[in-house]
Amino acid sequence: MPDSFKYPALLLAIIVIVALSFWINMPAAKEETIHSHEKSEDIECPECREKDIKKRIALLRSTPYLEKYIENIINRGSSQNLGFAYGEMQEGFADSDAAPKIAAYVVTLSGKSPSRPEWIKEGRIFYVSNCGGCHGEDGRGIHGTFPDLTRDPLLGIQRRIEKALSKS
Ligand code: HEC
Repeated sequence: MPDSFKYPALLLAIIVIVALSFWINMPAAKEETIHSHEKSEDIECPECREKDIKKRIALLRSTPYLEKYIENIINRGSSQNLGFAYGEMQEGFADSDAAPKIAAYVVTLSGKSPSRPEWIKEGRIFYVSNCGGCHGEDGRGIHGTFPDLTRDPLLGIQRRIEKALSKS
């Protein structure tokens, strides 16, 4: 190879190597920036923490959250020590297939519109036969013995809201 070609070829090789090493390192460098930003939000930014708490409370007050809360209680029971003489609620008073439909009906008891309004009618039928015996056909429960499902927020959710607020 003549000398006049050697140096440009060497230069080109160096440029390629440098460019390659940048390209390989870039994703890692990017991740690090995102990560350190998240960290600083957690620790150093009180406004960000306040915003996080507000977001959490908005979620806790949302209808989809309420629907999921009710559905989970039907499927898993409730042993939250909410302070009722009857004690715990057992799981499985209704099938897991019926649970989201019942939840759609129960949210209407506190004046909310469920995500799937077409389930209200069927949900009400399941509710009356599976839940009404304790919580009452009208959902108002029995004071001190069975919780009132028309209250807003429900007791278990109110607790979670209070817990979130206590962190602010
Ligand atoms: C045998 C009585 C009984 C039946 C039947 C019953 N529950 Fe309950 N339920 C309770 C009791 C008692 C509690 C309180 C448990 C606790 O302290 O965690 C409760 C708690 C709940 C809560 C939480 C209330 C709150 O304020 O956070 C929901 C929601 C609920 N029940 C929905 C239902 C639904 C829906 C059904 C029907 C599928 C149902 N329950 C059937 C007795 C019953």
